[in-house]
Amino acid sequence: MPDTHAISALDAFVARLPKAELHLHIEGSLEPELMFELAQRNGITLPYAKVEDLRAAYDFSNLQDFLDIYYQGADVLRTEADFYDLAMAYFRRAAADHVRHAEIFFDPQTHTDRGVPYAYVIDGLSRAATDAKTLGLSVLLIHSFLRHLSEEAAFESLAMAEPYLDRLTGVGLDSSEVGHPPAKFARVFARARELGLKLCAHAGEEGPPEYIYEALDVLHIDRIDHGNRSLEDPALVARIAAEGLTLTVCPLSNHKLCVVTDLNDHPIPDMLRQGLHATINSDDPAYFGGYVNDNFRALTRRGLISRGDCLTLARNSITGAFASNERKAELLAEIERFAAEN
Ligand code: ADE
Ligand code: ZN
Repeated sequence: MPDTHAISALDAFVARLPKAELHLHIEGSLEPELMFELAQRNGITLPYAKVEDLRAAYDFSNLQDFLDIYYQGADVLRTEADFYDLAMAYFRRAAADHVRHAEIFFDPQTHTDRGVPYAYVIDGLSRAATDAKTLGLSVLLIHSFLRHLSEEAAFESLAMAEPYLDRLTGVGLDSSEVGHPPAKFARVFARARELGLKLCAHAGEEGPPEYIYEALDVLHIDRIDHGNRSLEDPALVARIAAEGLTLTVCPLSNHKLCVVTDLNDHPIPDMLRQGLHATINSDDPAYFGGYVNDNFRALTRRGLISRGDCLTLARNSITGAFASNERKAELLAEIERFAAEN
């Protein structure tokens, strides 16, 4: 029988624990209410009559099921102001969860392929990132390539980003994983590295451990997004632990996309036990039913992680960030102060 007293104390602790979010697709934070509002503003008719109908469609059997709906939803994003409003809504929500630093993915090809200029996307997101400082939140932007498209298309997308390199921190790799291994993007990742960008890639969400090896050995990534399936390969786990690489893990996403059948079996406790630098993130919170603290609570309420684990996860989110050493030291000190006082 879970100790409900202890659980609510831990929930209260998590609610105010300073933390960073390192795996968040800004298009995946588009709540149905805002989707309807933007559709109306832009004269678009959605294939759903009301918010409840849209939410009812969020029932996925795998990653592709979700992606089909997610790309359709992003169609309401047309202007600089749309990207600004989308990002500010997420920043407000994240700040309420005591997120103090966020590194957010955006999918430029989803927009530029519909005729939305790259400038609208980056201007809206970076204006919101600047305004997020008033919420006590620092923000970095990660330009993500769609892996179901070609490497040539990724090169074209990177070329669009080049005039804005001062506003970008890194590149990522997302969308349909199986059938699109990391090595397909070897040259564009090498180019991104030459441009001074940090590198991360979704690997081992649905794809096999071999894709994680490729992301490490061929793309030379700085951070692994998801990485769940690394646990199938003890040598890979030992290597990731030894190299101190951070994994950005997303419990509610894993459950909604059937990467994990039962949240009681979520691999985060195992990852921590094996010395992996796991972090907790929300991925696409508008579609998966929760923001970052909901993801923590999904594990605390099942008795899967302790107060000490929550602190480790929060520290990992800072040490694994691409923020400056100065910002990281400030946030780590904030966590230690919070731990001493709570
Ligand atoms: N794009 C948005 N969310 C994603 C996920 N969980 N995996 C791959 N691509 C994504
Ligand atoms: Zn993701």
